[in-house]
Amino acid sequence: MPTIVAQTKPWRTLLAVSLMLVTAGCTRKPGPASALKPTGFGAALVESSGGKQIGATGMVLAQPLLVQVNDEQGTAVTGALVEFSGPTGVSFDPPSGLTDSSGQLSTNVALGSMAGRYQLVAHTSTKTQKPVELKIEEIALGYQEQVGFQLDNKYCARCHDPESTPERVSNYDNLETKPHPFTEGDTLNKMTDAELTAIISHGGPALNKSALMPPYGYTLSKTEIEALISYIRLISDPPYHASGMVYAQK
Ligand code: HEC
Repeated sequence: MPTIVAQTKPWRTLLAVSLMLVTAGCTRKPGPASALKPTGFGAALVESSGGKQIGATGMVLAQPLLVQVNDEQGTAVTGALVEFSGPTGVSFDPPSGLTDSSGQLSTNVALGSMAGRYQLVAHTSTKTQKPVELKIEEIALGYQEQVGFQLDNKYCARCHDPESTPERVSNYDNLETKPHPFTEGDTLNKMTDAELTAIISHGGPALNKSALMPPYGYTLSKTEIEALISYIRLISDPPYHASGMVYAQK
């Protein structure tokens, strides 16, 4: 199986996480005895890039997580100490550091061994020691969802993903009826697993929808269709209630 290429496009909107919070075992808190001495202090932490990636369990995400420390006026702060923490199994390289001349610090993130949504936290503190936090979410696909991801790339993305890549020109703009990207939870979460199975197996007309949605019942096995559905459920935004595994620290 080819290795998974994490999706570069972030999820559309912020996650309204109304899910079961799973706190697996001990959580990792930033070490108090950090050897790094901050030379600057900010008032806010913002995400520059690297949040909302879709990767594989146990793997380093394709893009580093880049955060920025700003002061009250929104100006970048150099030399501010930032520490990263996450649920059990998540690792950061480096786990902490000082912001550079553009106020930024980047870290490589490896997700844990469980499939699901991971909540990561970046920490800094103000001059008066007030903690400042930024929460970031990433998704780890398990084996089944990775199979679904690859099937999506092979069969579905050319219509369901409006963006073209060098390998795949999107057909989206040519379609009279627009399909939804699989992250679009507002639409897809309202469909039951049985409905998803029906439209994927028998095409749009099975649900009185457009015949531009082709039937895949002859191309894909039952197991492959299930893999696609578990993938669609995991990446949906807002999250699909029944796939609600969120790994976060207390
Ligand atoms: C040739 C273009 C095309 C391809 C390829 C395609 N679809 Fe679709 N799909 C559509 C269109 C168009 C609709 C919207 C039908 C409507 O709303 O009437 C749709 C609708 C759907 C829906 C209902 C939700 C929505 O987006 O409106 C699901 C679920 C779905 N497709 C799954 C898949 C899966 C899974 C694959 C790959 C195995 C796939 N589609 C491949 C065109 C396509």
